[in-house]
Amino acid sequence: MPVRKELENWLDEYLEVGRISDYLPNGLQIEGRDTIKKIVTAVSINLEVVEAAIKHRADAIVVHHGMFWKSDKPAISGYRKLRIKKIIDNDISLFAYHLPLDLHPEISHNRLILKGLGVDEIDGYGNNGNIKKDYSIGLTGIFEKPLLFDQLIKRVNKTLKTEARYFKYGKKNIQSLYVVSGAGRNMIDQISHLGVDAYLTGDVQESTEHIAKEERLNYIFAGHYNTERPGMIELGEKIGQRFQVDVLFVDINNPL
Ligand SMILES: [Fe+2]
Repeated sequence: MPVRKELENWLDEYLEVGRISDYLPNGLQIEGRDTIKKIVTAVSINLEVVEAAIKHRADAIVVHHGMFWKSDKPAISGYRKLRIKKIIDNDISLFAYHLPLDLHPEISHNRLILKGLGVDEIDGYGNNGNIKKDYSIGLTGIFEKPLLFDQLIKRVNKTLKTEARYFKYGKKNIQSLYVVSGAGRNMIDQISHLGVDAYLTGDVQESTEHIAKEERLNYIFAGHYNTERPGMIELGEKIGQRFQVDVLFVDINNPL
């Protein structure tokens, strides 16, 4: 059973927090009791997750989308007050890891999604390795044997437990797939230049369909939440392997 500090140090080191600048403070966001026996993991902090942690007598909550973002108004009121009050009243710690998880070389959502889809090769810097390092927020997966677009959608739905929607304007046979978990809608301009057969991300916006049509792109949006479950589940597994703790992933269904 780890003391809180031990868990914090391990998480910060494993997820290489010091190397990544982000829009939120990664690591311990709210300090709870010293000893950790039970941990609840979830994609995002919200009242349901806090209440699940209280119900399961968890000592800590670990999430991908935490309580504090750099753009937040520096005031604690409304829904924030309620979440924070319950966390503090119950002496629970809250840890959040955002970009360190998105970019992680071993357990990023993107890597786990591509592995789950059964790709034969994963390329960090885009197709043919000719993409700038800046784009490594996503990963390219290559299928040795191309599959039909509709087969890919079936695999996506099964792997991510989702019902993906899509704009099907590209090739029928898919060999290369670029994945950006979560909010990847703004990357569509870059994706068009990657030369991949399909793009899988979490979300979409009003302009997406016409860009996909004009660029002859297969654009799949499988949900921000659903594309960011894999890394959190895997992080929980890693914590459970490293420490003598119970870890429970709390899955709060989210349509977006
Ligand atoms: Fe996200």
